[in-house]
Amino acid sequence: MATGFRFPPFWFLFLFILSCFSSFCLGGDRVTRGEIYKDGDNITSKGGDFVLGFFSPANTSKRYLGIWYVDVPVKTYIWVANRNNPVHDKNGTFSINENGNLVVKDGHGDLLWSSNVSVKTTNSTACLRDEGNLVILNNDRNATRLNSELWESFSDPTDTFLPGMEVLIERQGQEQKVFRSWTNESDPSPGRYSMGVDPRGTPQIVIWDGPNRRWRSGHFDGAEFIGVPDVIRTTFFSGFRIQNEGDNKLLLTYSASNTSSFVRFQITVTGNELQQRWNEDQGEWNTLQSRPVGGCDLYNFCGNFAECDKDVCQCLKGFVPRVQEQWHAGNRTEGCVRKTELECRRNSSVSRNDSSKDDGFSTIRRVKLPDHANVSEITIDECKIRCLNDCSCNAYAYVRGINCMMWRNDLVDIEHFQEGGNTLYVRLHPSDIGKKKKTIIIVVISILAALALVVMVAIWLVCKYRARKRESKRTSEIPKNHLVRSGEFSTEYSGPGDISAEGHQGNGSELAFFSFSMVATATDDFSLANKLGQGGFGPVYKGKLPCGQEVAVKRLSQKSGQGDEEFKNEITLIAKLQHRNLVRLLGCCVEGEEKMLIYEYMPNKSLDTFLFDTVRKSQLDWRKRFNIIEGIARGLLYLHRDSRLRIIHRDLKASNILLDEEMTPKISDFGMARIFGGNQNEANTNRVVGTYGYMAPEYAMEGLFSGKSDVYSFGIILLEIICGRRNTSFRTDEHSGIIGYAWEKWEEGRPMDLVDRSIWDGCQHNEALRCIHLALLCVQDLAAHRPNMSSVVLMLETDNVRLPLPRQPTYTSMRRSVDEDIWHGNQDVTSSNNVTVSVLIGR
Ligand SMILES: *[C@@H]1O[C@H](CO)[C@@H](O)[C@H](O)[C@H]1NC(C)=O
Ligand SMILES: *[C@@H]1O[C@H](CO)[C@@H](O)[C@H](O)[C@H]1NC(C)=O
Ligand SMILES: *[C@@H]1O[C@H](CO)[C@@H](O)[C@H](O)[C@H]1NC(C)=O
Ligand SMILES: *[C@@H]1O[C@H](CO)[C@@H](O)[C@H](O)[C@H]1NC(C)=O
Ligand SMILES: *[C@@H]1O[C@H](CO)[C@@H](O)[C@H](O)[C@H]1NC(C)=O
Ligand SMILES: *[C@@H]1O[C@H](CO)[C@@H](O)[C@H](O)[C@H]1NC(C)=O
Ligand SMILES: *[C@@H]1O[C@H](CO)[C@@H](O)[C@H](O)[C@H]1NC(C)=O
Ligand SMILES: *[C@@H]1O[C@H](CO)[C@@H](O)[C@H](O)[C@H]1NC(C)=O
Ligand SMILES: *[C@@H]1O[C@H](CO)[C@@H](O)[C@H](O)[C@H]1NC(C)=O
Ligand SMILES: *[C@@H]1O[C@H](CO)[C@@H](O)[C@H](O)[C@H]1NC(C)=O
Ligand SMILES: *[C@@H]1O[C@H](CO)[C@@H](O)[C@H](O)[C@H]1NC(C)=O
Ligand SMILES: *[C@@H]1O[C@H](CO)[C@@H](O)[C@H](O)[C@H]1NC(C)=O
Repeated sequence: MATGFRFPPFWFLFLFILSCFSSFCLGGDRVTRGEIYKDGDNITSKGGDFVLGFFSPANTSKRYLGIWYVDVPVKTYIWVANRNNPVHDKNGTFSINENGNLVVKDGHGDLLWSSNVSVKTTNSTACLRDEGNLVILNNDRNATRLNSELWESFSDPTDTFLPGMEVLIERQGQEQKVFRSWTNESDPSPGRYSMGVDPRGTPQIVIWDGPNRRWRSGHFDGAEFIGVPDVIRTTFFSGFRIQNEGDNKLLLTYSASNTSSFVRFQITVTGNELQQRWNEDQGEWNTLQSRPVGGCDLYNFCGNFAECDKDVCQCLKGFVPRVQEQWHAGNRTEGCVRKTELECRRNSSVSRNDSSKDDGFSTIRRVKLPDHANVSEITIDECKIRCLNDCSCNAYAYVRGINCMMWRNDLVDIEHFQEGGNTLYVRLHPSDIGKKKKTIIIVVISILAALALVVMVAIWLVCKYRARKRESKRTSEIPKNHLVRSGEFSTEYSGPGDISAEGHQGNGSELAFFSFSMVATATDDFSLANKLGQGGFGPVYKGKLPCGQEVAVKRLSQKSGQGDEEFKNEITLIAKLQHRNLVRLLGCCVEGEEKMLIYEYMPNKSLDTFLFDTVRKSQLDWRKRFNIIEGIARGLLYLHRDSRLRIIHRDLKASNILLDEEMTPKISDFGMARIFGGNQNEANTNRVVGTYGYMAPEYAMEGLFSGKSDVYSFGIILLEIICGRRNTSFRTDEHSGIIGYAWEKWEEGRPMDLVDRSIWDGCQHNEALRCIHLALLCVQDLAAHRPNMSSVVLMLETDNVRLPLPRQPTYTSMRRSVDEDIWHGNQDVTSSNNVTVSVLIGR
């Protein structure tokens, strides 16, 4: 009895250990040899993010072995094993078989899928890693390397690209379709679309629809893919790396900037590449970007030798539609052909040697360069000569990082960008380049015709205007806010003479509502001659009101996220923002689809027209530049803190800073994010607006914006003002931009090297140094480290404020900062003379 008394605890312990052991195996992160896993069993990665098991997609009972996110309630499968051979009941199993492969079998024991490892091994385990990678490890003691990886799901992916994944590219190889979409939401078998890399020339990312191209990213220039529009370039590709693996192999990888939330790229069942980030608070995937967006983004949307601009097709200069009727009916499949065959391609009796030299080139700027280039490492002049001497050459281009690109085939997939892009030189017969009398006649005729049309339209508009005036008199009822019905110019409108004192939010800011016809008349029917420029939200025209006042008219090309009433209310609010350093909004026009904003006109145009112009830049001496810097800072501070609306600008750049006669800077385009339905507090947004090069990393990559993202853009502008050079003009092998350059000089202890030589005389060294220091504080990687605008203004205006040392900005290299100390965002800074901002030194 005594012995029997001692036994039960022992057995209990044994059973306990046994049960623990088996549950460890089943719930662990690995599949071991000899274990058979049934439908319902699962393997979870150590960190608990991913799980491997059987699942059924929506609306089907078929079972597939796959990997999905544990914590994402919207079931999202990143990998499927037996995508071609589903299990039709719930009797499927997975296990490691006798030759070390991971296999999926059905209830009869028939093989449905195998990892197909060819190495003979007697002992292997499959392990689900934390990044979602299922690997088979060799445990064989005789193996050359213990625990070497025999196979991994990351090298046999389905439709999803994850951070940490490596795609091997053979430099000399053919196109590689790495990812294949599902057939539809309920069928994981390979569908129509695939995504991968074409390594020819230099690598580019391509989406295929069956065998045909659907979208391409443009070639890789060593830092970026050149065919992606500037606006999404940083979002799309920061984090992507192409490393040289030697042996003519390249490795494409992606690393997320913030590993605490899931990011994935997927080729969807509709053929779109989709980049999403999991938002835990909202419980949904936020789309960071998706390509193609349709229209010009689609591969060769306009056909060969044609150019696509805002979804409008046009033959390149010197080319005409191959089949006129088809082209005008909207069928672009046949594309365009040369008006005149190249001299060297004709069977003429004339000496070929000389005539081919007569061919010339037309220059097309800001384009996504055509596909199928031949790349060679020669200079731009040699490139031109080589193209001239090669009769099959249709065009050439020179791109830093790729060098000479030449096209011997048809020119396909050319898109015209609003900004960015590259310059293409298209070879033409001399007669298609030179001006001809004939063209002059055509121009004259078309001008006359246009004039006649303008007169007719004007007459019609006047009639319409009168009719409406009569009607509005009948229903006359002045709406709230002293708004004046469209059709009449507000008599209460007060001219710019009464622009109130700085920061004053006068209540005499009645907004004028203009009719379309009035704006049309003022801008000469939006004539090209009156076009001042093209902003992100639409073209801007110069206009002259009947009273003689000059105005700038912004014609919004995008649909705002609001109805007409909401739009008007929003505009009325924004018109109340008045500050010496903000462009004044005078009125607006809302009529049907047309929405326009009318601003005061700035005769000196924008900051960039001075700053980056070799001749005019010297007009901006240091004193003027410093005043401009202060003005921008004050305007921003007003927007951020003092105005009632607390506006975050989100697209601050040199071309958005306008200058009046006295070179007072005025911020324009503020409040656009509000009009287009953006939320103005710290938030993240599905739609990133902004300009490449000015966007803060957290905004560009994750859509997070706050006042601190404006501070970042301000820092960039500050550096540009000091250097007198564009941010993008610094993109060379050594510097990834103006920040890299500035940091280098700062580290070398020679910050004054940054200062524009053309203003060296009269430059106040202490002020310049302070501005450089401040700029580096503003462009720090982490938003928390950047000062807010009120600190910026204080630091600019007070001589003896000690500034904290800036941390090295790492631009796109994604090094996560480990230091915890942050800028005291709320510290009280007063503007008394002997104040010192508390200093935080840290690198
Ligand atoms: C894994 O299996 C266990 C036991 O069957 C179950 O409790 C758990 O919910 C499963 N995990 C997932 C992510 O399906
Ligand atoms: C599943 O079927 C339901 C009803 O037919 C449908 O509403 C739903 O969209 C389907 N889901 C998918 C993913 O196809
Ligand atoms: C599969 O399981 C079901 C019960 O779930 C059983 O009725 C059926 O016989 C099994 N099929 C095979 C092939 O084992
Ligand atoms: C494994 O090999 C078999 C036969 O060669 C083939 O049918 C199957 O598709 C291969 N599976 C994988 C995952 O490559
Ligand atoms: C297989 O490898 C595991 C882990 O290394 C080891 O514990 C086990 O003894 C090995 N089995 C055989 C048959 O070699
Ligand atoms: C390992 O190699 C030894 C001799 O080299 C051999 O006797 C043994 O059977 C091998 N073991 C396995 C598991 O292959
Ligand atoms: C998905 O595709 C399969 C065949 O490929 C088809 O039978 C099924 O009806 C499709 N399901 C949906 C929801 O379209
Ligand atoms: C990473 O993302 C999480 C959740 O979205 C957020 O809480 C955290 O602050 C982010 N970390 C960094 C360094 O941005
Ligand atoms: C466009 O023209 C091609 C032949 O040039 C023809 O095959 C095709 O069907 C046409 N497409 C449409 C939509 O009419
Ligand atoms: C040029 O000459 C070749 C043979 O010499 C002939 O095949 C070709 O059709 C000719 N081309 C033209 C445009 O006359
Ligand atoms: C073309 O130039 C070569 C040498 O440059 C010369 O030998 C040849 O005669 C020339 N051909 C003609 C048709 O002039
Ligand atoms: C030029 O490019 C085409 C298509 O990319 C390729 O087939 C051809 O071999 C290349 N030729 C040379 C000389 O590189």
